[in-house]
Amino acid sequence: MKGTKVSLFAVLVFILILSACGQDVDNDADGESGEDDGNLTIGLSVADLTLERWQHDRDIFVEKAEELGADEVIVQSADGDDAEQNSQVETMLTQDVDVMVIIPDNSDSIGAAASQAQEQGIPVIAYDRMINDTDIEAYVSFDNERVGEMQAEYLVEEVPEGKYFLLGGAPTDSNAQVFRDGQMNVLQPEIDEGNIEVVGDQWADEWSATEALDIMENALTSNNNDIDAVVASNDNTAGGAIQALNAQDLDGEVAISGQDADLAAAQRIVEGTQSMTVYKPITEIASRAAELAVTIGNGEEFEADTEVENGEYNIPSVLLDPISVNEDNMVDTIIEDGFHDFEDVYEGVPEEERPDYEE
Ligand code: GAL
Repeated sequence: MKGTKVSLFAVLVFILILSACGQDVDNDADGESGEDDGNLTIGLSVADLTLERWQHDRDIFVEKAEELGADEVIVQSADGDDAEQNSQVETMLTQDVDVMVIIPDNSDSIGAAASQAQEQGIPVIAYDRMINDTDIEAYVSFDNERVGEMQAEYLVEEVPEGKYFLLGGAPTDSNAQVFRDGQMNVLQPEIDEGNIEVVGDQWADEWSATEALDIMENALTSNNNDIDAVVASNDNTAGGAIQALNAQDLDGEVAISGQDADLAAAQRIVEGTQSMTVYKPITEIASRAAELAVTIGNGEEFEADTEVENGEYNIPSVLLDPISVNEDNMVDTIIEDGFHDFEDVYEGVPEEERPDYEE
């Protein structure tokens, strides 16, 4: 008996040593090992760093990855240009990256560069937005259907009956449709009951605030300003729509949702011109993605919570929980978390009207 235990132990140690040696070898899909410089290099391709949200993601991701032992994180932003993102990723594939983390601008067209990476034995992780129809290694995001539900739930509570305008996000972003699915889970029964009437539905390319402004101006004109709620899918587009509402003295009168907890949106919420936002703790997604990138980049096994279908494949996924934020829980969420400073959020609110807060 004793002998069996010892030999089992020896076999285990042997396996451990073997797998440790394996970590130094490039994990090419075809089994052939490529050249490995022994460093862990991560490529991070960001759809658009001109949007505030992605700057936070980048900062936290890079810090965490380096803390976990990455030697280098190469970051590039496509600034909303799909073709540019493909060519940036292709260039990174020639720079000895061990793993590619991609926030796609276009969930379909990025598939070309992602499959090229996978074919070269460089695993791809889709960050926040899915890469469609491509057999990638992993997906890290939030429960995006729940995000859409939270937006609509809040508005329906504030405006149980009335005229709703639907302002969707970038049609090229797979999440934009998922947010809409979530919104409709809540809105459809109300529409069927005759409580809510949808007076328009448009989508803003690239989640652009200026495009949202134009859309909202036109929507107000064609509805004689008779709109009670706007289901905006993120803060950037909500900001554009609120400018259009403001021009008609309707900001603060029309309920409007958002997402991302951008500073400007948090300020609008406490000042009363935006109803809510959905806060997706970026520290969590960026840290989980960095952990995955380091694990996968080192050729180690990782644990997924679930699988998400991307059209053709079921991708091992980690989906985090979003948080609905309005003026009542602003301090307990976004501020307590250190995502934004109290002073910055309440900048436009007179001291005597601010909630109590001790740092
Ligand atoms: C989505 C993302 C949202 C929002 C939007 C605009 O894909 O999930 O949080 O940031 O893009 O960038």
